[in-house]
Amino acid sequence: MARTDTIVARTPGTPLPETGPGARCSAELTRADVAAMVRDEVQRWLPPAEGAGRDPLGLARIVTQEVRWVGSHSLDRSLLADLAAVRHARRGQDARLDAFLDCVLARYDDRYWNRPYLCLPLLEQFVEGPRAPLTHTGLVALLAADLVRFELCASRRATPVSALGRPDGRTLRTRLRHAVRLLTADLGEDLGAVLLGGVSADPLAGLPEVLARLPIAPAPWAAEWLEVSVLPTSTVHDETFFIRALQTHEMLYAAAARLVGDATACLQAGRPDLAAGLVDRVTAMVDRGQSLFRMVATMRYEAFHTFRESTDGASAIQSEQYKRFEVRCGTPPPDRLECPAFEQVPSVSAELADGRESLTGAWRVARLRRPHDPGLARLATAMAALEASHRRWKGTHVTVATRMLGEARGSGHTSGVAYLRAWVDHRLFWAVPELDAQQ
Ligand code: HEM
Repeated sequence: MARTDTIVARTPGTPLPETGPGARCSAELTRADVAAMVRDEVQRWLPPAEGAGRDPLGLARIVTQEVRWVGSHSLDRSLLADLAAVRHARRGQDARLDAFLDCVLARYDDRYWNRPYLCLPLLEQFVEGPRAPLTHTGLVALLAADLVRFELCASRRATPVSALGRPDGRTLRTRLRHAVRLLTADLGEDLGAVLLGGVSADPLAGLPEVLARLPIAPAPWAAEWLEVSVLPTSTVHDETFFIRALQTHEMLYAAAARLVGDATACLQAGRPDLAAGLVDRVTAMVDRGQSLFRMVATMRYEAFHTFRESTDGASAIQSEQYKRFEVRCGTPPPDRLECPAFEQVPSVSAELADGRESLTGAWRVARLRRPHDPGLARLATAMAALEASHRRWKGTHVTVATRMLGEARGSGHTSGVAYLRAWVDHRLFWAVPELDAQQ
């Protein structure tokens, strides 16, 4: 089968199942219970114990509970040393536990950055490989659903977690509305309307119905490990939702990068019409990614400034998927390649060095060979729309960052907002002058 047929036949993914009746918020263990349980569980894993019935998910769950109580940044040093010993002894026996422990231990290992902060080594196991149970966009829906579940259940429990607790009712409703809009793009309008109705007026009144209708991973293991894929550094309530927002961004841009690669292949195969359709889908994704900023804008300034004290060194500037998306659109000019954005993503620089063709490169070849192909005009319109959408995304990012950060430096050690502003007018398709007329 030709490559374009394979691309066209690739379905966006089967619909996700609903959680179903009886879905409840999980019970929260006390601080004392968690502290005792995590010690006992780790002892069962430490060599030389062979202990029958060890359960990797059980270990990850209790460590996650401990993280929720104290923040990954403040885990007890001796617990970290024990977890490192467990990892050393058991490495290779369970890929999910390996990934989970690498994320928990990143600071201890002195390898802390965006990937372990966002638990990406674990999340990627949900979407990569021939037997992966989810597509990137399916995972976007699940991350947003988990965010809704987390906020609603925290509100229902009403337990004080830290001085910087949960959002007030109005802020909660705004946050939930944006999250539900984000996830319903994959679920269809009917379910979207039910969920939006459920969270708009009095979210706690409709809690059982909303929890039952939220999507869940089709493979039980993915549903279970998703629970342990958020490891806040602090006990500030809003950090969990901030991590979910950034994880969602990674998955959206992973999907976008892949689609841009597919569009390039279609163009190289002489099908600019198919390429244009794929670029339109990318534009819809970048537009959709803007709702993450609307969600993050519901975060309190004090909350952000409290937890960012412990996230220094982990920044979205290290987002590999965002940079992969960028290079698949077109090789960036030298000033962009030499700026901090690319210094921090060696895997993407390696992809560039491999000489993989970008959409810009394929466009320039096609334009020379078939200057009057009407499909190319349609593709140019689609590329211009993507450029405009990405420009809007950057503008909104600057607005949110200005409000939350002010004059402070970025956690990726740039000048902060000044850095972001400097790149707002930079273009993905800067080497396609034909698009200028459409801007
Ligand atoms: C409190 C809200 C936010 C603030 C204050 C903020 C601030 C910043 C700053 C200062 C940078 C420059 C790098 C650094 O020094 O860290 C940056 C980069 C970045 N941020 Fe944000 N950001 C926020 C939210 C978000 C969200 C929600 C997303 C994704 C949806 C995001 C995606 C990115 C990306 C992809 C980059 C890299 C840009 C590049 O490569 O040029 N940010 N952000």
